[in-house]
Amino acid sequence: MPGNADKSSIELLITRRSMVAAKMTEPGPNDAELNTIIEAGLRVPDHGRIGPWRIQIIRKEAQEKLGELFGELFKKDNPDAPDDLVEFNRARPSRAPILLAITFHPDSERYAKVPHSEQILSVGACCQNLLNGAHALGYVAQWLTEWPAYHSEVKKALGHDADTEIAGFIYIGSAAEAPEERQRVPAENVISEWTG
Ligand SMILES: Cc1cc2nc3c(=O)[nH]c(=O)nc-3n(C[C@H](O)[C@H](O)[C@H](O)COP(=O)(O)O)c2cc1C
Repeated sequence: MPGNADKSSIELLITRRSMVAAKMTEPGPNDAELNTIIEAGLRVPDHGRIGPWRIQIIRKEAQEKLGELFGELFKKDNPDAPDDLVEFNRARPSRAPILLAITFHPDSERYAKVPHSEQILSVGACCQNLLNGAHALGYVAQWLTEWPAYHSEVKKALGHDADTEIAGFIYIGSAAEAPEERQRVPAENVISEWTG
């Protein structure tokens, strides 16, 4: 298992940052590590125990197949696009050793007690915990939607209805170099104290 075992839980949380998927390298998490990352992803607040998230694991061979579809769709939707751009889109799903597709499956019959917004927040929490889980095991990850998350043919190919929302694709791999720090929204812009 690569680095980060020496970091405290709070250090892990405050040092996580995304690595651009295109810069990810092998190795990705092995099966046991991936199970642990997913276990973290499922350990999220979920009002009413609805479980509105689904996680699909997309490994190398399947990434290639998904990439073929991305390339075809991109060309169809952008008939004048140059070949290198089509190839860029074909290669999208293969950028990292492991790709996860996270989808949102709300229970609308429970909206009176657990509104749609609460259910989708739980999917966001799932994605975030997947990122943190990967980081805790010393891997890098990135949560991307890009156009494929909103394309009905992509949803169909993954086995979902057109109205299923893809919350994101999470790419997980190793870092050839540490990601550069990113400027954050200043804490003072978002924190205030309410004193009554
Ligand atoms: C729902 C969601 C979708 C995102 N989709 C994209 C995307 O399509 N392209 C992109 O460059 N970043 C996207 N991001 C941002 C990256 O995941 C990431 O937050 C960004 O690269 C900054 O890295 P950080 O996690 O270190 O702040 C998305 C973030 C969220 C929460």
